Amino acid sequence: MAMAAKLVLIFVFCFAAIIPLLEANSGYDEDGVWKKRKEEAKKSMMESYVPDPLVVTDEFDVQINQDKGNNGTATHDDDDDGDDDVKEENKNVSGSVNTTTNSSRRSLRKKRYTGPCHTTNPIDACWRCRPDWESRRKSLGRCALGFGRRTNGGMAGKIYVVTDNNDDDLLEPKPGTLRYGVIQKEPLWITFAKDMNIKLSQELIMNSNKTIDGRGHKVHIAYGAGITIQFVSNVIIHGIRIHHICAKGGGMIRDSPDHYGLRTQSDGDGITIFGSSNVWIDHVSMSKCGDGLIDAVQGSTAVTISNCLFTRHNDVMLLGASDSFAGDQFMQVTVAFNRFGQGLLQRMPRCRWGFFHVVNNDYTYWKMYAIGGSKHPTIISQGNRFLAPDDIHLKSVTKRDYAPESEWRNWVWRSEGDLFMNGAFFTQSGQQNMKARPSHEYMIQANPGEFAARMTRYAGALECVRGKKC
Ligand SMILES: *[C@@H]1O[C@H](CO)[C@@H](O)[C@H](O)[C@H]1NC(C)=O
Ligand SMILES: *[C@@H]1O[C@H](CO)[C@@H](O)[C@H](O)[C@H]1NC(C)=O
Ligand SMILES: *[C@@H]1O[C@H](CO)[C@@H](O)[C@H](O)[C@H]1NC(C)=O
Ligand SMILES: *[C@@H]1O[C@H](CO)[C@@H](O)[C@H](O)[C@H]1NC(C)=O
Ligand SMILES: *[C@@H]1O[C@H](CO)[C@@H](O)[C@H](O)[C@H]1NC(C)=O
Repeated sequence: MAMAAKLVLIFVFCFAAIIPLLEANSGYDEDGVWKKRKEEAKKSMMESYVPDPLVVTDEFDVQINQDKGNNGTATHDDDDDGDDDVKEENKNVSGSVNTTTNSSRRSLRKKRYTGPCHTTNPIDACWRCRPDWESRRKSLGRCALGFGRRTNGGMAGKIYVVTDNNDDDLLEPKPGTLRYGVIQKEPLWITFAKDMNIKLSQELIMNSNKTIDGRGHKVHIAYGAGITIQFVSNVIIHGIRIHHICAKGGGMIRDSPDHYGLRTQSDGDGITIFGSSNVWIDHVSMSKCGDGLIDAVQGSTAVTISNCLFTRHNDVMLLGASDSFAGDQFMQVTVAFNRFGQGLLQRMPRCRWGFFHVVNNDYTYWKMYAIGGSKHPTIISQGNRFLAPDDIHLKSVTKRDYAPESEWRNWVWRSEGDLFMNGAFFTQSGQQNMKARPSHEYMIQANPGEFAARMTRYAGALECVRGKKC
């Protein structure tokens, strides 16, 4: 046994140096198993791709609007708490306006609200104010909206409870650990027995049909490697905190009960979505990772990133990593109800090739720009609030890379109902008279940007207590 371990070590040591050069971007040593996964992933990616995405944005907007009619939702949520600054600044605005308040660097996020449960957006309205959330955890699997709306994670499977926060055996992870749960083939709804800090020794390679559900406990994935969702489909990550993720050297890692393989260096992303589809990331708090907070690359599609709280980080969200990888034209991602908070620099998100619906997010901080891209991505920005920094050179929300204006002026980048503050502005391009909704049958918009602050009030991991509304 000791001998075997030694051999593996030597093997790892020799190849770790060579393989990064060969497989610089893929992170794995392709064998028959990975080849098969890649083919299957591609098939499910193409099945998830929506040829006319504007229909999907229609559907999304309809649901937001229906929600307005409910009690205790965004438009009816008039209680007075924690968000005084925001309200004050938003009180007297309508549509896309330019408010020049200079209160921008005041903290926009005060103490956590502790009053009665209010849902402020339609994803939360699906589950959050039900006191029995704990016994009905899996009903969250029906709550996704946007491009990732078919994602139900491990809803069809059993509940698997993580009882052990160790991650010391990458080849034979012990039952009870997070790693043991995520590599299984069957669908699993993964929960946690207690508050936990999990320091991943190497990247956590997830299998299909899984939910990681941190509700009920404070679960941190921190000070180690990040989460990798590669060539799989149907994954939900909900209610955890991911921070201080660092690059790890790679090595032999088990990725399913009957397979392990050699991984190259992981680059320190919080969550990497690689060639995968139907992924929903909701109510995750993320900060301070070695590379990106969330990267979706290699044709990943049908992804929704919602209700997340992002703070203190440089490259926040990279959607499409390569100008030369045309497979990313199938990438379709919804970025909704997230709060881009203090200490962020850029890429919220940074897009390539595909179709990106950025809706009702609250941007309270950036140091370079908010939304960027190259390779003619389509970006539909609706009902976001953009609060620019005071620096006069940093007022632009948008940034285009690697293309002269003669080229990018044809890219479809639309802003509708966004709220611009402190001089923020969005440079639109593409057909001037184009509306994000081709059909007026469902002529209903995402909520206007004035609502973005309250719609994102509960962004990040929630503190849910059993028997009480979250
Ligand atoms: C909302 O709730 C209030 C009081 O609970 C009720 O009077 C009102 O009719 C409700 N509105 C809707 C749209 O359900
Ligand atoms: C907005 O504020 C200005 C000045 O404070 C006021 O003149 C105007 O009537 C207000 N508009 C609305 C819609 O309240
Ligand atoms: C906003 O306030 C800061 C510091 O209080 C000041 O340096 C800056 O010039 C102000 N900006 C505007 C546009 O008034
Ligand atoms: C995931 O679940 C779906 C539906 O139950 C099933 O068709 C599919 O084969 C599963 N995927 C994997 C990789 O097991
Ligand atoms: C915003 O409004 C102020 C005052 O009305 C004006 O001076 C400024 O030029 C406007 N900025 C933009 C970007 O429209």
